[in-house]
Amino acid sequence: MPDRRDGGGAARRAVSGVLFVVDLNILCIGDVVGRPGRHVLSHALPRLVRERDVDCVIANVENAAGGSGLTASLYEKFARYGIDVQTLGDHAFKRGDIFPVLQKSERLIRPANMPSHAPGRGATVFVTEKGPSIAVMTVLGRLYMKPPTDCPYAAVDRWLSALPPNVRIVVVEIHGEVTAEKVAMGWHLDGRASIVFGTHTHIPTADERVLPNGTAYITDLGMTGPYDSVLGRRKDRVVSTLLTGIPSAFEVATGDVRLCGILVRIDAESGRAQSIERICVPDTFPDGGENETD
Ligand SMILES: [Fe+2]
Ligand SMILES: [Fe+2]
Repeated sequence: MPDRRDGGGAARRAVSGVLFVVDLNILCIGDVVGRPGRHVLSHALPRLVRERDVDCVIANVENAAGGSGLTASLYEKFARYGIDVQTLGDHAFKRGDIFPVLQKSERLIRPANMPSHAPGRGATVFVTEKGPSIAVMTVLGRLYMKPPTDCPYAAVDRWLSALPPNVRIVVVEIHGEVTAEKVAMGWHLDGRASIVFGTHTHIPTADERVLPNGTAYITDLGMTGPYDSVLGRRKDRVVSTLLTGIPSAFEVATGDVRLCGILVRIDAESGRAQSIERICVPDTFPDGGENETD
């Protein structure tokens, strides 16, 4: 582990003069797609947070608004549902009314390796109720991805070198198309990040593990949305377009909705991951409550 994690004791809590170390549970949720994704999130997330003693929820919400982008009202809604840090990917700027939120919110980040004049921030620090802070950054991969971006590895390195030494828990998202680029990020950050997870491909991978130096890693969280689909879109439309070459509207699908992600337990003193578990919750919840009608 790097020097900035050593010797601080910021994660130690004193009770009756006795020091003990806090462990944290961090839930990372994959790309929330359209109304189906929002629906399962609204029901499943509060229950997960309660039953699994979750201290911080990080979710990629780049596909939340009709399958592409995020609106200001959805940002507010997701905060009410219990998402602590919302992240965006290549669809970050699809909805113009999110720009003011990007400019002022510390709970919403877009890829850090975008052009320097892009609205918003690429990283943030979330302070948990138990005390320890969690630094979160998201970057875009560069292989088969738009828009063109700076080197994601160098962007993370610069950010890590500037983090205050008392921030021991570091989460990095790499939003990319190519598995190798994401696996490489895991190895690049092993021992320097607590969690590295991939997003964007909307397909959960089965390679979750804690790397030798304490970094929890998975190549893709999978999406939170309809799996009776092609990556969340109506399969008949996508298949037809691929067969004929004729463009059609790729509407968000509706069937087999699931919430997907990982739950990671972190030793807050060292920042090392202790365990990583894939999460998949099917949407068996009835309509009602704070329903998804917009
Ligand atoms: Fe994406
Ligand atoms: Fe996505």
